[in-house]
Amino acid sequence: MEEISIGLLGLGTVGSGVVKIIENHQDKLIHQVGCPVKVKKILVKDLNKERAVQVEQARLTTNPDEVLNDPEIDVIIEVMGGIDETKKYLKQALLNRKNIVTANKDLMALHGAELLTIASENGCDLFYEASVAGGIPILRSLVDGLASDRITKMMGIVNGTTNFILTKMAKFGSAYEEALKEAQELGYAEADPTADVEGLDAARKMAILSTLGFSMKIDLDDVKVKGITGITENDLEYAKQLGYTMKLIGIAHREGEKVEISVQPTLLVESHPLASVQDEFNAVYVYGEAVGETMFYGPGAGSLPTATAVVSDLVGVMKNMRLGVTGKSAVIPQYKKLLKEPGE
Ligand code: NDP
Ligand code: HSE
Repeated sequence: MEEISIGLLGLGTVGSGVVKIIENHQDKLIHQVGCPVKVKKILVKDLNKERAVQVEQARLTTNPDEVLNDPEIDVIIEVMGGIDETKKYLKQALLNRKNIVTANKDLMALHGAELLTIASENGCDLFYEASVAGGIPILRSLVDGLASDRITKMMGIVNGTTNFILTKMAKFGSAYEEALKEAQELGYAEADPTADVEGLDAARKMAILSTLGFSMKIDLDDVKVKGITGITENDLEYAKQLGYTMKLIGIAHREGEKVEISVQPTLLVESHPLASVQDEFNAVYVYGEAVGETMFYGPGAGSLPTATAVVSDLVGVMKNMRLGVTGKSAVIPQYKKLLKEPGE
C-alpha cells in the first residue's frame, strides 16, 4: 500500500483530535503500518464553522456520498454521533467494503451485533474501542488480555460528564447547571447531555462491556438506570460530612447464565478506590474467576484521549489490511436469554 486514505464523519471534539493525532503522529503511524495515512474527506454539518483544527476547506463536505462512496477511501472513522442516520451511513460504507472505526456507543449498544455481522460478511473490520471509557483500552483488554478468563463482575465509573459534575459539586460546591455547562464547554458531554445526566450513556457502555465481558448480547431495556439529575450540592455536602462520596456507578454481575446490570448514584466510603476518581476520569474494575480483581483507570472523555483510542483502532485496522485479514477478528455477540426470570 502506498498510502491509506481515511474518510472522517464528524470534525467536532473527537474528530478534531483524530486529525491532530494522525497529523502529529504520522511518523509513528508510518512505523506501525508501513505507509503514510491521510484524512482525505471529512463530513460535517456546517462548512463555515470555526474548527479546533485547521483543515483545507476542500476536504470538507456536507454530502455523505462523497465520503462513503469514494473508491480511494479505505477506512471510515465515524465520530459524528447519532443513531439512525449514522447506522445508514455505516451500512453503506460496509457494503462499499470500507473498514470502520467508531466512537459511537449509542449505535454500538443498540445495533452493534447487526453492524458487526454486516462487517464480517463484507470482509471488513468494525472497531469501537473509544465507545467505552474514552482513552482507556478496556474493550481490547476484555477481548484479548482477559480472553482466557471467565468474567463474573464489572463495576466502575464510565461516564466522564457526570463524574466531572459530581466532582465539581462536591469539591467546590458548584451548582449542577454550572458544572454541566463547564463539562459541555470542555467537550465531555454529548451533543444532547440528557443521556449523560440521566445515566443512559453509562448504561449503554455497561451493555457494551457486558456483551464483550460476558459474551452475551445485552438488551438495554433490561439495564436498570438512574441518573444524577436529582442530586443537589446539599446531598453531596451531607455525604461528605458522613465520610462518603457520591459517584454514578455502573455494575454488571453474572451468575451462571443470569446477568444483572444497573447504573445509579452510589455512596462510597471515601477510602474506596473509586471515590478518588475525579473530574472526567473513568475507572473500571473487572473481576475474573482466574485473574481475580483488575482495575483500569484513565481519562474517560475529551478530544485527545478519545482520539487516541480511535487512532489506535485505526492502526489495528491498517495492520489487518496489510495482512489481508480484515473482517476476521470481530467478536459478534450472540443473543442468549439472560437476566432475571420474569417475576424474580
Ligand atoms: P461533536 O458534537 O463535538 O461533533 C460532532 C461532529 O459531527 C461535528 O463536526 C458535526 O458537524 C458532525 N455531524 C453531526 N451530525 C452530522 C450530520 N448529520 N451530518 C454531517 N455531520 C454531522 O461530538 P463529539 O466529537 O463529542 O462526539 C462524537 C462521537 O464520539 C459521539 O458518538 C460521542 O458519543 C463519541 N464520544 C465522544 C467523546 C467525547 O469526549 N466528546 C468520548 C467518547 C466517545 P459540525 O461541526 O459542522 O456541526
Ligand atoms: N459523554 C461521554 C462521557 C463521552 O461524558 O463519558 C465519553 O463517552
